[in-house]
Amino acid sequence: MAWGQNKDYFFAYLYQHTWLECQVIPCKMPHMSDPSTLSWKTHACGDLNKEHINEIVLVSGWVHAHRNLGGCIFIDLRDRTGLIQAVFDPQSHPSAYKQAATLRNEYCITIKGSIAARAGAINKNLATGMVEINASEIIILSKADTPPFHVKDNTDASEHLRMQYRYLDLRRHSLQNTLDIRSKTSQIARRYLDEATFTEIETPYMVKYTQGGARNFVVPSRHSDGAFYALAESPQIYKQLLMVSGVERYFQIVRCFRDEDLRQDRQPEFTQIDIEMSFIEESHIQRLSEGLIATIWKQILGITLPSPFPRMTYHDAMTYYGVDKPDLRLDLRLADVSTQSQQCGFRIFEDAIANKGIVKCLRIPDGKRLSRKDLDNLTTFAKPFGVHGVAFARVEEDFSWKGSFAKTMTSEAIDTMNKKVGAHVGDVLLFVADNEKTTNTCLGALRLHLGEKLDMIRKDEWQFVWIVDPPLFEFSKETNNHVACHHPFTSPHQDDENLLETQPQNVRARAYDMVLNGVEIGGGSIRIHRPDLQTRIFHALSMTEKETQEQFSFLLDALRYGPPPHGGIAFGLDRLVMLLGNTESLRDVIAFPKTNRGTDAMSNAPTPVSDQQLAELNLMRRSKDNV
Ligand code: AMO
Repeated sequence: MAWGQNKDYFFAYLYQHTWLECQVIPCKMPHMSDPSTLSWKTHACGDLNKEHINEIVLVSGWVHAHRNLGGCIFIDLRDRTGLIQAVFDPQSHPSAYKQAATLRNEYCITIKGSIAARAGAINKNLATGMVEINASEIIILSKADTPPFHVKDNTDASEHLRMQYRYLDLRRHSLQNTLDIRSKTSQIARRYLDEATFTEIETPYMVKYTQGGARNFVVPSRHSDGAFYALAESPQIYKQLLMVSGVERYFQIVRCFRDEDLRQDRQPEFTQIDIEMSFIEESHIQRLSEGLIATIWKQILGITLPSPFPRMTYHDAMTYYGVDKPDLRLDLRLADVSTQSQQCGFRIFEDAIANKGIVKCLRIPDGKRLSRKDLDNLTTFAKPFGVHGVAFARVEEDFSWKGSFAKTMTSEAIDTMNKKVGAHVGDVLLFVADNEKTTNTCLGALRLHLGEKLDMIRKDEWQFVWIVDPPLFEFSKETNNHVACHHPFTSPHQDDENLLETQPQNVRARAYDMVLNGVEIGGGSIRIHRPDLQTRIFHALSMTEKETQEQFSFLLDALRYGPPPHGGIAFGLDRLVMLLGNTESLRDVIAFPKTNRGTDAMSNAPTPVSDQQLAELNLMRRSKDNV
């Protein structure tokens, strides 16, 4: 539309979106036959208050609720800012009243009227609850079928139904709010990094497939028979190449794609605030990251975060919390009682140690909060983690233990374990004995489960922690070789380089994760910038010379042309917003998310494509060959 045609709308928009002290623009009611003269709103619904009493206003939005209370019709009108009540009186405005009688939920309408103090009861739950609009005119902009669920916060509609009608779901204020937080978080990050002289650079989404890391989505190439791109799981290699290019400070707010098993805090396509810097050490990146996060928290929540954030080694995180992303709002800690279990009298503990496993204890203070039934149920909770059970004992007045397995324990073992775990009278002690990984995973989850159940998690706290010095490799039983814990471009600790070939499991990585309230919100590392070291890492990952060349020759080549020392980090934007917005799932902070099965409930993607398309992509023959 040309400027002249659209200027009424433009001024209404300007009025709403600036802080100009201007008069309400003259209201022209819309004429459906001449949309160019439309002027839809003088005010946002949620902004109306006592100061507007006696003003003539024009508001537009959706019918949230309608009540016909005999005398008058009451409409709650909703726009993205809030709700306002409009009253249609048959005596004063019979024509508007007649039209209001035809309204149904989610009709899109414009109402004109004057603001008055509420004639009826004041609604304390509504920001606009002191006032109402005495409606004089109404126009129905579009009708709505009966919606599949009531568009309101605290809806009881199933998540699947809401996903199917996501455009209606998004009308809810809680979701509009998180989308707003998301937008602001991106803007703040952009401003912060721009001011810190970072350059925003886009990198390709369709990239070369390389092994390792997350499972990739692949895209067939029409031009190259049988060849595929991978959708980038992150811009990792490209941001390193940008450092070789001399960019020095790169950032990008970028979509990443990973074909992983999904959880509440994982989506197949998600967004990172991705950062890379040259000529830096860990401390530079960590300081910059803390500044970024502190700025976001200050500007969105008004909270000043203390800095620097605490550091914890990966080893300590696993020892005391059983996980690499501990929730420090909960004071419960694990204690390793393997040494005390060696000849403790209880066969299961002794066998675990004999089989090179471990025994760990979780001490729950004030254990009477857990009934016998609660304790028995812990085994049901724990079994899916692969353990046989959870042994429990209550600490009695004389520091002896009450519990079926405790009878077999020597008093000396009980004594030394009490000391190791710091037992108090009345505590409940929970034990798991298995291999190290299973024991930690199980007790780490039990810790959170019981913290939640016993209301011991301090929900009003923001507990940030850097987890540092993780191992460079972990052993994968699936592939029977070492895989990179972070990614294969992460630098080993200088002191551990000589262990790469002999004791790869003991090599520490120059990597760091930022964890908040038990969620990994960011992770990064110092990178390898020497081609010889990068080649040794590929070999430690059991890649042959041929595989290394086929997959990574372009990176190894680049590293031969004077790469600067460099490193970086990426923050999960979706996870940040999930925590800032206090929501439970990533699906609440992504406008159009995927379901737990990786599908789009609204469009039904993924869907089959035609044989012709398959043939064009040279996939037809292959799929037939495979049958
Ligand atoms: P990493 O794989 O640790 O590192 O990812 C960085 C951060 O991205 C978020 N994240 C996810 N968010 C939602 N859904 C997912 N499936 C998902 N996977 C990861 C997390 C995580 O901390 N290239 C490296 C970064 C680097 O080394 O600079 C990388 O991608 O918050």
